Amino acid sequence: MIETHGLAKSFDGNQAVQDLNLQVKPGEIFAFLGPNGAGKTTTTRMLACLIAPTSGEARVAGYQVGRENDEIRARIGILTESPGLYEKLSAAQNLAFFARLYGLSNSESADAVKKHLGMLSLWERRDEAVAGFSKGMKQKLAIARALLHNPKVIFLDEPTSALDPEAAKIVRDFIAELKNEGRTIFLCTHNLDEADRLADRIGVMKQRLVQVDTAENLRRKLYGRSIVIRMRQVSETHVKSVKAFDFVKGIEREENQLSVVLDDPDAMTPAIVRALVNAGGEIQSVGEEKHSLEEVYLNLVGNNKG
Ligand SMILES: Nc1ncnc2c1ncn2[C@@H]1O[C@H](COP(=O)(O)OP(=O)(O)O)[C@@H](O)[C@H]1O
Ligand SMILES: [Mg+2]
Repeated sequence: MIETHGLAKSFDGNQAVQDLNLQVKPGEIFAFLGPNGAGKTTTTRMLACLIAPTSGEARVAGYQVGRENDEIRARIGILTESPGLYEKLSAAQNLAFFARLYGLSNSESADAVKKHLGMLSLWERRDEAVAGFSKGMKQKLAIARALLHNPKVIFLDEPTSALDPEAAKIVRDFIAELKNEGRTIFLCTHNLDEADRLADRIGVMKQRLVQVDTAENLRRKLYGRSIVIRMRQVSETHVKSVKAFDFVKGIEREENQLSVVLDDPDAMTPAIVRALVNAGGEIQSVGEEKHSLEEVYLNLVGNNKG
C-alpha cells in the first residue's frame, strides 16, 4: 500500500531523509519510530504529496508520488502535527465543513458525519461547540476528519504526543478500531510504548531506516531470548553447571537470580533446570525475560549516530 525506493529529502543541503526503502502492507499498522528530527514528518509529507522528494520514488495506494498526486490525495487521510479544528463550531459543523472541502456531496457529507460521530460516541453531542471537548475527544475528531472521504491509507503524525495519558489512551483505542476497518495506518511516533502496543511492524528511523520488524523480532534480534531462573541461593557451582552447556550464549548472575541467553528456550530450559537441580540448586521460578522495546530502541538509535 506504501512503497518507497531510495526516497530522500534534503533542505538546503541538509539531509532530512536518506535512501528510504520501505513497504507497508494493506491493513497494516506501521509505526515509524524515531527521535525528534529523525525525518518522520518529512517522510509523511512526501508520502502525502505535500512536499516533493529530492530523489527516489514512492507509491501510495498504487499511485506514484509526484506524477499521480491527485489520485493519491483522494485515497489518503492525514493528521498533521497541529490539527486545526474550529473551536466555535460544533462537532458536526466541523466535520461537515471539511467534508465539503473533500468534495463530498450534501448527502454523502451527512452520511459521513453521522457515521464518524457515531464511531466517536459523539453523535449525542454533535451540536456542542468543540471548545468544550476534552483534548482526547478533539484529537479523535481531528482523526475522524481525515477519514471523511473514506481513505484507504491514513497518516497519523504523532497523534498522542500533545495529550495527557488518559486522552492518549482514548486516541490509541480509536486507532486500534481503525485497523479493524481494514485501513492501512502509517503512525509516526516517538513513543515506544505506543508503537509496541499498536503496530504490526515498527520501522526505526534516524535519517535512514535503521531496522524494520515486529516489536517481538526487534527484541529477539538484539538480545536473543533469555530465561530468568530465581533460586533460593545461587552458588558458583550452579553458574558453572549452566555455563557447561554449549548452547548457553550468555549468563548473568544477580543475587539469587540467573539470566541465561538461549536460542530456543522451549527446547533448552529443561536441561538447564535438571543441571541446576543436580548441582543442589533449589529453583523457585523459571520464566522468559522480556526486554523492553525502549532498550531495543536506544540500542538501535544509539548505534547509528549520524
Ligand atoms: N521545511 C523545512 N525546512 C528546513 N529544514 C526542515 C524542514 N522540515 C524539516 N526540516 C529538518 O529536517 C529534519 C527532520 O525533521 P522532521 O521530519 O520534522 O523530523 P521528525 O518529524 O522525525 O521530528 C530536521 O533536522 C528538521 O530540522
Ligand atoms: Mg515530526
